[in-house]
This record gives sequence, structure tokens and C-alpha cells, in this order.
Amino acid sequence: MEKYNYGVIGLGVMGRNLLYNIADHNFSVAGFDLDEEKVKELHDGATSEMKVKGSTTLEDFVSAVEIPRKIILMVPAGKPVDAVLENITPLLSPGDIVVDAGNSYFEDTNRRIADLAAKNLHFMGMGVSGGEKGARTGPSIMPGGDLEAFRLLQPMLEAISAKVGNEACTAYMGKGSAGNYVKMVHNGIEYAIMQLISEAYDLLRRGANLNNDQLYEVFKEWNNGEMNSFLIEITRDIFQQKDTLTDAYLVDKILDKAGAKGTGKWTSEQAMEIGVSIPTIDIAVTSRIISAYKDERIQASKLYSEKEITSPENTESFIKEVGDALYLATLISYAQGLALLVKASKEYDFQIPLQDVVKIWRGGCIIRSVLLEKFYSAYTKNPDLSNILLDQDISVIVKEKIASLRKTASYAALNGIPALGTQSALGYFDAYTTESLPVNLLQAQRDYFGAHTYQRVDQEGTFHTSWQSANN
Ligand code: 6PG
Repeated sequence: MEKYNYGVIGLGVMGRNLLYNIADHNFSVAGFDLDEEKVKELHDGATSEMKVKGSTTLEDFVSAVEIPRKIILMVPAGKPVDAVLENITPLLSPGDIVVDAGNSYFEDTNRRIADLAAKNLHFMGMGVSGGEKGARTGPSIMPGGDLEAFRLLQPMLEAISAKVGNEACTAYMGKGSAGNYVKMVHNGIEYAIMQLISEAYDLLRRGANLNNDQLYEVFKEWNNGEMNSFLIEITRDIFQQKDTLTDAYLVDKILDKAGAKGTGKWTSEQAMEIGVSIPTIDIAVTSRIISAYKDERIQASKLYSEKEITSPENTESFIKEVGDALYLATLISYAQGLALLVKASKEYDFQIPLQDVVKIWRGGCIIRSVLLEKFYSAYTKNPDLSNILLDQDISVIVKEKIASLRKTASYAALNGIPALGTQSALGYFDAYTTESLPVNLLQAQRDYFGAHTYQRVDQEGTFHTSWQSANN
């Protein structure tokens, strides 16, 4: 019986596209899906050069993959992954490798690594970013886990991933569930940038009264310069898309209620859990939540009435300011996400190479941007950088743009245009760069009512005071 180099379980669009991408690079691939229709689609869509085979029975699929088997799961995160593992593990041989390429929660991956290790099987969590198109033509791939198992997959992963120059957008992300963790934080940053872009859009359309054609031009110009990125690029294109049901632009017909699958929320929960401040990501998560309360928002907008918006005096300079503010707030969002990875790497002993993280995010993934080149240089100079805001070259960019961020955040506040992400990025920057925060007072309060103690600026040790009440 003919043997195939790789196996892919789950032949939905993502699974099928990833399978074709592997097959395009001269690897033979077996695919499995319970749905006969999907298996048929796999065969129908394959080119004559591809060596692919689809199965609807796990036995047939497993026996078609060469040993040690390298099987990639492309099924929804959560219970479906456990269901597949339960069915497939009895059919596998010691040393086989199962790679979960979905957005799985890292703790689930830890549990599965242990479960499969007890059966002499390798389990790996691997983040894949780039959507359907990326899976087919070159995603950014974030694998983690057993290093030896990774080495067996590495040539294929490097072949199928996106390239920047001739550098592959994939690298080993660290031990255990590091691959899933890095992808989770990637998505947290994705949430923040999407929120910031939406706020810039709101400021331009409601503040400067730009229409969709003008917004298209602004985003086009932004994308041609230092703000070049996937998310700016697709935003530019969105402003051109006409509705098929009416004469309007589609963006104006889309209901303002955001969905979410959970990776942003996990990022925020994790940051709280291990003590890292990522307010712009938190705000992005909570802004999606507030958007869902459409009926209440309508009620409240009537009660408090629409705020008067004063248009900026000079539209050109306002657009420039909003662009610079977006650029800097985006940079600060990456800084928060990367700081979370630094802490998580220590906390969970992932040993995440930050330099490789930013290197492989430069292409293929949703948060790819030219800005990542600057972070790559920063980590190349200092792989142990705890926060990219501490890098000298980054500080030059920040100083150049900070006035625009302040003006944009103030304009939004004064005109009642919600810009929580933009303002949180500024607030984070101000807090992070302030030597003396007012929490001396907060510590005094804690000690006053709860004897929680405090430390002093002039002596070592822990102190408590019997605070005097004026009413005594
Ligand atoms: C990617 C995306 C992908 C997915 C998000 C969407 O990197 O390719 O991040 O993983 O589009 O999970 O997340 P929400 O549905 O939560 O916005």
C-alpha cells in the first residue's frame, strides 16, 4: 500500500488549503474527514501534480501515513480535538506525532501532551495564522513542544510557510504549549490593532467627515508608507467594496455588533493571571463586548443625546495626526503583547525566543507589518529586552509620534467619540514611563484600612502604621 508523508485531519477550508499547500511542496498527503462531500472536494480540487488521498475512515487514513506518522489536526479547538484524539490514539504507533494546528487553549495542549506522552506519542500545539488564503499560499506558523518532533516537521513547515525575502515565517516557539501561547498573544495583538484602526476610522468619518472614497485614499496612502501592514491593506479595500443588495458601500450596511471566538479574552485573562499590563488588548476585548449591547446603546444615546462634534480646523493635519497616533498606539499594543510573552516564557518555562517570534510575524500572519522589522532589529541587538519601549531606536519613533497620540486622544475625549484603545495606549505609555506613580497613596490607604503594610523609599523592610483618624 502506498504511504504518504503527512496526514491532515479535518478537510474544511483551512484543512484542505493547508493540505494542498503541503502537497504543492512535493510532500504526499493523506486527508481524513468523516464528511464524504469534503473528501470528494479534496480530490476534485487537487492538481494532477499533487499526491493526495482522502479517506472517510480513520483506519484507512492512519495506515496510509508513513511511520513515524506526522498528523496535523485542523479541527475546531475544544471538544473536537479531544474527540479526534480519543479515536485516533489507539491506532497510532509509538513515536508518532500529532500536531494541533487550531487555536487551542494552551492549558488544553499541556494536558494533551501529557496524555499522549503516556502512550509514547508526541503531541504538539502549533499556531497557524493567515486565514484561508494564508493556509493555501503561505501562513505564519508557530510550532512548539517536543524539539525532536519539531525537527522532523521543520523542512515541511519551512517549505509551506510565508517567506520574507528568503526567510521562512516559521520557527520553534519553545517548550510545551508555547506554540499555542504565542498564537493566542498574536490574536490579542490582532484584537488591539483592529480596535485602533476602527477608532481611527470613526475619528476620520465623524470628526473630519470623510466619506468611504476619501477613507480609501487615506488608508491607501498609509499602506504605502511606514504603516504598511495586512490590516491597513484590507481596511483600504473594505472602503471600496460595494453592497450587492443596495447601492451603498457594504461597510455602511454591516451591523455594529462584533463577534469573538475567545482568543482575545484568553490573552487578557492570562495577562491578569501572571501580572502583565496589557490595557489596549483588554480594551479591545471589552469594546467588542460593549458593541453587543446595541439596544441599550440606542436607549442611552437618546437619554444623553448625541454629542456636538467640532470638526478639526485643518483636515490634512488631522489625518496626519490620526495616522501617527494609530501607528504609535499599534506599536504600544505590540509592546504589551510581547511583554506578556516575555513574562509567560519565564512563568511557564516556555523559553520563547522573542527574536524569532517577531521574525516569523513579519509575513503570512494577520498582524504582519513593516513595523515588525524594527522589533526584529531591537531583539537582534538585545534578545532579553523586557519591553520594546526600552529600545533606543524604538524610543526615537515614539518621541516623534507621541504628540499626535496625545492630540488624537484629547480630540476624541473632547468630542465624545469613543477611542478607548487609543486612549489606553497613551495611558499605558504614560504609566510605564513615569518614575513616580501615585500608588504611594494607594499603599497608604491599604495599610490604613487593612494593615496591608507598605515599603519605604528610604529604608529596606516592611512597615505598618496606626493611622490617625481626624474623627478620633
Ligand atoms: C489568524 C486569525 C484567526 C482567526 C481569529 C478570529 O491569525 O489567522 O487570528 O485565528 O481569524 O481567531 O478571531 P475572532 O473570531 O475572535 O475575532
